Amino acid sequence: MRFTIWVAIFLVFCMAGFAYAGNYTSSAHGDSTYGVSRSAMSGYVTGNCAHCHEMHASVEGVTSTPYPYALFYSNYVSQTDLVCLQCHDGTTSVSSRAITNRSYSYRAGGWTADTISSVKSSFDTSVEASAHNLSDILSFIQTQSWGFNSSSTPCVACHSPHYAQGDPFNAPSSPKTSSTRGWPLTRPSKHGSTNSADFLWGDDSGEKMSDYVGALTYQAPYRYGSTSAYEPDGSTTTNGSNLTDMNTLCLDCHSSDMSSYGLNNTPIDWSTNGDKHGLAGADGGIDIKGPFSGSNYGSYVLACTDCHEPHGAPNIMLIRQEVNGDYLKDANDNLAHITNYGSSSNVSNQLGYLCRRCHIDDADYYNNPSYRNRWQYVHHYSPDAPYSRRRCGRCHYSYPINCTDCHYHGAVDPKGTGRKTF
Ligand code: HEC
Ligand code: HEC
Ligand code: HEC
Ligand code: HEC
Ligand code: HEC
Ligand code: HEC
Ligand code: HEC
Ligand code: HEC
Repeated sequence: MRFTIWVAIFLVFCMAGFAYAGNYTSSAHGDSTYGVSRSAMSGYVTGNCAHCHEMHASVEGVTSTPYPYALFYSNYVSQTDLVCLQCHDGTTSVSSRAITNRSYSYRAGGWTADTISSVKSSFDTSVEASAHNLSDILSFIQTQSWGFNSSSTPCVACHSPHYAQGDPFNAPSSPKTSSTRGWPLTRPSKHGSTNSADFLWGDDSGEKMSDYVGALTYQAPYRYGSTSAYEPDGSTTTNGSNLTDMNTLCLDCHSSDMSSYGLNNTPIDWSTNGDKHGLAGADGGIDIKGPFSGSNYGSYVLACTDCHEPHGAPNIMLIRQEVNGDYLKDANDNLAHITNYGSSSNVSNQLGYLCRRCHIDDADYYNNPSYRNRWQYVHHYSPDAPYSRRRCGRCHYSYPINCTDCHYHGAVDPKGTGRKTF
């Protein structure tokens, strides 16, 4: 098995090798200064394939179990233990500094106060409140006809080890900038494709958020602390022509029913028949903050990563801690975390900390910070308010009431107005 793969690697280099080698050397792993390098493989130059694929066990002087694809470590042991995390753990170094990785809120949002500094901790549910479950990802991709198998590494669902680029690259503590762009992603459904346009997702024309929305509007959220710089790269571009079409990537998987993984609000329907945050339009008006404009209601289409982290987050459901220019905060400006949706005995309006990053809450409308995360205006008083204030007990088993009674992917108002509420 290992020998066969090594022959394959050798042939790739010798015969069809040029295109592959060229893409590889412009990847983060193939870089000759900051690419892959393991001290156990000191005889090999930085960037050499052998830092991941070992020719045979004697290279390291050990005769361990042969791992699939002749890799130096297991494709999957646990959520925090697999081949990629042998290096992306926040301690392994490259060219005398630690390999450092950040959250999306940090890189795209520009929120450099975020303390997550490795991929390993971003998936570690003893650090984060939620994370993509890598065992579930692995079993999910095996059920698709995308060429994955039981030896696949779950990270490879979204990243190609041979093509992935840093965005930014060799910049451990910088957000993305327009002059340091690279493209880290590959669509899961394009795994193993030999069409070079499929090697990376986001790098070619047709693969941006501006392409996804077509005649509708992508409006980039603000960068942290700014009203003039925008996600993802801090430039003044706002139409998504500089953002990977994240929706198509996420929806490769999330167009499936995932109730068997405990996700009952799936599939995510971002089509014109689905959520208003997707290609379907808001109706009757919106109560929204900048850079969104109330007069453009109906035309906006959001990216999944405007609200979600891809790996893990300090909130449930991968909800970002920094959204549209500021972090989720309570009335005293402390970090506010979304830890639960509430129940009948323990009511929670925590989800509102996310909504108020874009929508107008009572603090914004009445210009009174002590009303932060109160929502009477949009539900009872705005021109587009759904509910008149009478027969309070029909809805108010308490003040406030749980937001997820009515707001979640796919939701329609249960109180009979017929309005779609997400
Ligand atoms: C469900 C898809 C998905 C899976 C699975 C996944 N990632 Fe990611 N990863 C992403 C997305 C999306 C980004 C952000 C890309 C961007 O900023 O354009 C990202 C970013 C990264 C980055 C760059 C972080 C930085 O510092 O900017 C690294 C490194 C990375 N992932 C490694 C991994 C590793 C290792 C695993 C497995 C333990 C993994 N990813 C699993 C989707 C995924
Ligand atoms: C390779 C397939 C795949 C891709 C691509 C993918 N997901 Fe997932 N996702 C899953 C699976 C499987 C689950 C169920 C297991 C779990 O909860 O982690 C899941 C769960 C989730 C959850 C629920 C997490 C929780 O705490 O229960 C969210 C939110 C989510 N995904 C968002 C995203 C976003 C946003 C993207 C794009 C950046 C994305 N996913 C891309 C497979 C995928
Ligand atoms: C960062 C680690 C890493 C480096 C560096 C790396 N590979 Fe891989 N390679 C992998 C992983 C992980 C897989 C398994 C992919 C999967 O699960 O589908 C793989 C799979 C392969 C395969 C099997 C076919 C395929 O693509 O699935 C070949 C051939 C291969 N690598 C060749 C190479 C060559 C040639 C180089 C150097 C030019 C190289 N690899 C560098 C991690 C790496
Ligand atoms: C042998 C060590 C090693 C292994 C194993 C490894 N990586 Fe990397 N990876 C690196 C180094 C070094 C960089 C460049 C990081 C830097 O400049 O800080 C990198 C960069 C990246 C990047 C670009 C983002 C960035 O920080 O520049 C992605 C995405 C990525 N790796 C994903 C993966 C995935 C997915 C796997 C498993 C299939 C994997 N890596 C396995 C060492 C490794
Ligand atoms: C406006 C912010 C926002 C955007 C944009 C967004 N989400 Fe969500 N997402 C949420 C919230 C809030 C929840 C928790 C409520 C729920 O489960 O629907 C959630 C939950 C989820 C879940 C778990 C669903 C379940 O069954 O509990 C998945 C999967 C998910 N999102 C994927 C996506 C994908 C894929 C996209 C892009 C196509 C996306 N989200 C865009 C806010 C958002
Ligand atoms: C990143 C910004 C952002 C976040 C965060 C956000 N929204 Fe929105 N929301 C929008 C935009 C923009 C629209 C308008 C969509 C359109 O034009 O079709 C919208 C539309 C809506 C609508 C439709 C209004 C109508 O009149 O039809 C509802 C309901 C809604 N959002 C609820 C929520 C809830 C609840 C949350 C928190 C869980 C939330 N939103 C979080 C940006 C956001
Ligand atoms: C058809 C449902 C419905 C009815 C009937 C209704 N409300 Fe509400 N009300 C809501 C929703 C939804 C919210 C926003 C969520 C929240 O803040 O509890 C809200 C918010 C409020 C708030 C802000 C709560 C807080 O602490 O943040 C007050 C106060 C309020 N309503 C008073 C009333 C009164 C008084 C009545 C009866 C005269 C009434 N409502 C009838 C649905 C309703
Ligand atoms: C009883 C159902 C119900 C509950 C509970 C509820 N909402 Fe709403 N909410 C609605 C309806 C209906 C709309 C109007 C949708 C529309 O305009 O089409 C709405 C609209 C919104 C909007 C969009 C306003 C706009 O037009 O820009 C936001 C934001 C919002 N709610 C946040 C919250 C938050 C935060 C909570 C919890 C504190 C909450 N809601 C609880 C029913 C509810």
